[in-house]
Amino acid sequence: QKAIAVMTSGGDAPGMNANVRAIVRTIINRNCRAYVVMEGYEGLVKGGEEYIKECNWEFVRGWLSEGGTNIGTARCMEFRERKGRLTACKNLIDAGIDALIVCGGDGSLTGADLFRSEWPSLIKELRDTAVISEEIYNRYKHLNICGTVGSIDNDMSTTDATIGAYSALDRICTAIDYIEATAYSHSRAFVVEVMGRNCGWLALMAGIATSADYIFIPEKPAQTNSWEDQMSEIVTRHRANGKRTTIVIVAEGAIDNNLNPITCDEVHKVLSGRLKLDTRITILGHVQRGGTAVAYDRVLATLQGVEAVDAIIESTPDVPSPLIAVNENKITRKPLIESVALTKSVADAIAAKDFDKAMSLRDVE
Ligand code: F6P
Repeated sequence: QKAIAVMTSGGDAPGMNANVRAIVRTIINRNCRAYVVMEGYEGLVKGGEEYIKECNWEFVRGWLSEGGTNIGTARCMEFRERKGRLTACKNLIDAGIDALIVCGGDGSLTGADLFRSEWPSLIKELRDTAVISEEIYNRYKHLNICGTVGSIDNDMSTTDATIGAYSALDRICTAIDYIEATAYSHSRAFVVEVMGRNCGWLALMAGIATSADYIFIPEKPAQTNSWEDQMSEIVTRHRANGKRTTIVIVAEGAIDNNLNPITCDEVHKVLSGRLKLDTRITILGHVQRGGTAVAYDRVLATLQGVEAVDAIIESTPDVPSPLIAVNENKITRKPLIESVALTKSVADAIAAKDFDKAMSLRDVE
């Protein structure tokens, strides 16, 4: 019986629990042993039964809708060092784990990909230093890894949606609907900062879904010499049309064309100073990550969980680790390494001020 472990890593996202639930139950259904790694990579480095736990069908009962991640997550510095990964390798072998499924964002999956590519040299070091026997070395020579993408940011290339993004979008839209009511009452302007790290998907989609007046996203930087005029002109026009509210959404990673951050304070200054609007700033923060998973995330996480286990069971050492994606409403497998590289190329394009490339890589027009 193969032993397959699942862990969550990076920022939590609604739907991660549904993903773990589907993975655990599919592992059991496929006649393998299911394990969870508690606290993300930190649990891998700490090891032992407290952190790498075998679990049964009932363990994940009731998890389908729950927000957050019940098996914990952490941003682990030790795993970033080879020494930490060597310890993690030993811990997985001690627990008898054959394969690992990681649900996380691009940073976590980059770590997963590195771990898998380094595995042969890690396990060889353990054998050469007599920490493990030749027999154990031969048994665990290859580690199969599979990634599912859990992140509210929807920033992973090669997949249309990440688990949690639509739930966070729902939270943002609900919050902006609430803000609209109070903005209307006072005829106020609001600058709303949303999460997304250096991806503008949440800001852009929330802007469309709430009919915001103006949106700042990293992929289409504000032009230093014209954004103030452009925003003022648009807001003034909307006000002249009788709008009592003004909503400007700022992605937390928004920048100008010199790569300087666009801050809510700067936007506030223009709305209140130049346009004389009574303006408030609302930073939504972690409320965007909380709450139950919307139906789409439950379904996506479940279907992708089943696919992840099947991909792991079918995987062979010569096939690159898969990432479970969704493309045009179909669950698909992509080479993890390529998805991670493509995702990084968006950040590289922005850093190189090649914004057209960043936009086309993100499919933004
Ligand atoms: O990646 C998810 C995310 O929520 C980002 O949108 C945000 O930038 C970051 O995590 C916040 O991280 P933390 O929870 O560590 O403050």
